[in-house]
Amino acid sequence: MRIGILTSGGDCAGLNAVILAVVRRAVLGYGWDVVGIRQGTHGLMQDPPQAIDLNDQVNNDGMLRLGGTILGTINKGDPFHYPMPDGSFADRSQEVIDGYHKLGLDALIGVGGDGSMAILHRLAQMGGINLVGIPKTIDNDLAQTEYSVGFTTAVNVAVEALDRLQPTAASHDRIMILEVMGRDAGHIALFAGVAGGADAILIPEMDYDLDALTEHCLNIRKRGRNHALVIVAEAVKRDDGAAVTQDDDGQKVRYGGIGHWLADELGARTGWDTRVTVLGHVQRGGTPSPRDRVIASAFGVHAVDLIAEQKFDRVVAWSKRKVVDVAMADVIVGPRLVDTAGTMVSTAKGLGAYLGHPPKVARTAKTV
Ligand code: F6P
Repeated sequence: MRIGILTSGGDCAGLNAVILAVVRRAVLGYGWDVVGIRQGTHGLMQDPPQAIDLNDQVNNDGMLRLGGTILGTINKGDPFHYPMPDGSFADRSQEVIDGYHKLGLDALIGVGGDGSMAILHRLAQMGGINLVGIPKTIDNDLAQTEYSVGFTTAVNVAVEALDRLQPTAASHDRIMILEVMGRDAGHIALFAGVAGGADAILIPEMDYDLDALTEHCLNIRKRGRNHALVIVAEAVKRDDGAAVTQDDDGQKVRYGGIGHWLADELGARTGWDTRVTVLGHVQRGGTPSPRDRVIASAFGVHAVDLIAEQKFDRVVAWSKRKVVDVAMADVIVGPRLVDTAGTMVSTAKGLGAYLGHPPKVARTAKTV
């Protein structure tokens, strides 16, 4: 047997741990060959396809702790709508399918988020690709899995940032605002906000009210504390409903900037000195947390076992302390948003943090 693996979408900590687990299970457990495809589907599109032999990596225990992905990845370049040098878009899906067959692969493991998984699923259906998916994304917004590879490392980074902001906030009598990633889901902000003791946690799934947030901060002061910590997810909108985004290249909206807008508003309303930290890609790099290594290892081993059982079109998942697998169609249903009636929200509220209120019109994406 000869299997391929590719990493797709934004990178995160733990991808190399996934690759190592796949190689170890396939080589040591089954005696198979493992081929690593460079730059996600982009590598399969090339002629010859860009791929490397991974069997040697079986001894590379450094991979467990190495950030990034040795295979490279892309988070744009949908092969069904591929950006061409002249500015036009082309359907290059058949080239990707041809690349898989040219490499003589019996199966493919795709490590990706919701968007990558949907693309790979479509390619697999069209081109007879025996596909197994492994969820990864710092956003933790894939349906059917409690954890995706990369999430806990990102949360750890955000908590460390709050731990470092709190003493300087206290020294200078300031409100500190921390803007974190997460795309349309607020999982990073919510987990980090609880773990890092944020006084306000703003997530895209909840509506907030600037007057109430201002009063909340002023009450903290009245109670005798001279500083406050606010964490805000990048996709939170301004109070007039406008999204705060960076230049986009026509392929994917890039969030960023809500922290600075909020600082201006909150600083003016409270009269309190306010500063902003935008964490950005720091959340994606670096050494994976032990939990991410465990999840990555369990996912990698289970994905190879699924191939051995000839079970395809499945995605491995973490559920109730176990690695399981689910139908890919049940995963590619749009982002898994924060459950506004769930434990994390009620815990944060119970701790006295300001979170706002669920929107009058419920968000459409799946909440689990
Ligand atoms: O999906 C992962 C993620 O890090 C998001 O949280 C963020 O919005 C986006 O990717 C950033 O993408 P880029 O690397 O293209 O700036």
